[in-house]
Amino acid sequence: MAERAAARLFEIRGLRKLFPDGTEALAGVDLDIEADECLVIAGSNGSGKTLLMRTLVGLTDSSEGSALFRGVPVAKDPGAVRRAVGLVFQDADAQLVGETVEEDIAFGPRNLRLPQAEITARVAAALEAVGLSDKRKAPPRRLSGGEKRRLAIAGVLAMGCEAIIMDEPFANLDWPGVEQVLRAVSDLRSTGHAVVVLTHELEKILAHADRLAILDRGSIRDCGKPAEVLGRGVAAFGVRDPRQRYDSVEDCTWLE
Ligand SMILES: Nc1ncnc2c1ncn2[C@@H]1O[C@H](COP(=O)(O)OP(=O)(O)OP(=O)(O)O)[C@@H](O)[C@H]1O
Ligand SMILES: [Mg+2]
Repeated sequence: MAERAAARLFEIRGLRKLFPDGTEALAGVDLDIEADECLVIAGSNGSGKTLLMRTLVGLTDSSEGSALFRGVPVAKDPGAVRRAVGLVFQDADAQLVGETVEEDIAFGPRNLRLPQAEITARVAAALEAVGLSDKRKAPPRRLSGGEKRRLAIAGVLAMGCEAIIMDEPFANLDWPGVEQVLRAVSDLRSTGHAVVVLTHELEKILAHADRLAILDRGSIRDCGKPAEVLGRGVAAFGVRDPRQRYDSVEDCTWLE
């Protein structure tokens, strides 16, 4: 059992997803995800980021290859993976389930059939952790985009997940919204959670990443320390190297 507990968070080998229309959306992904790291998976639109996340937690079946969670195939016990790995979806609205913010956060712990006192304590702690305590009675749909992302993170915290996968967590957020998400990422890291961020907005997260993986047309083209991966070049994979120095407004162009 001790060996099991020490196993990698995810071990992904030759993972393929072939759709009936012939689209090979995952084309043999090989990747290890450690239990104590912040891993950023970058890739352009359509590279397979969302599909990879869904496959890792058993929401989508793979066609070939294997994904092991803590040494056990995901397909064997997807429920266990989903209890351990929280998801923050690209579309924050797709994840809202409660009539109020606190009911939304309580949904997961209730499904775990925890005692009411434990649920109440977890909801209060999660609200506090993401700074949403004053919105506890608000309807989730009325929250701003940044607040909805923090609500999703609070739900993950209340579940007691050991890892979190965030799909494009910065999409549509203003600067304070990005800061709020980054603060939540930093807190999750300092409390021993593994954090996986799927994004093409490297400039917002890379300073906080232990490793950077580049996903391109359904396979991992490079993976390693962020500076080393960027040094080898990422433009060919539709990913922009964020290490720019701007001296003037004119320098801020994204066009070469
Ligand atoms: N049901 C399906 N049938 C055929 N192709 C599909 C299906 N679902 C997804 N795909 C394809 O799989 C590929 C990967 O999609 P995915 O949503 O994982 O991309 P992504 O990297 O998350 O993109 P984005 O940055 O736009 O969110 C895309 O080319 C998409 O068109
Ligand atoms: Mg996506």
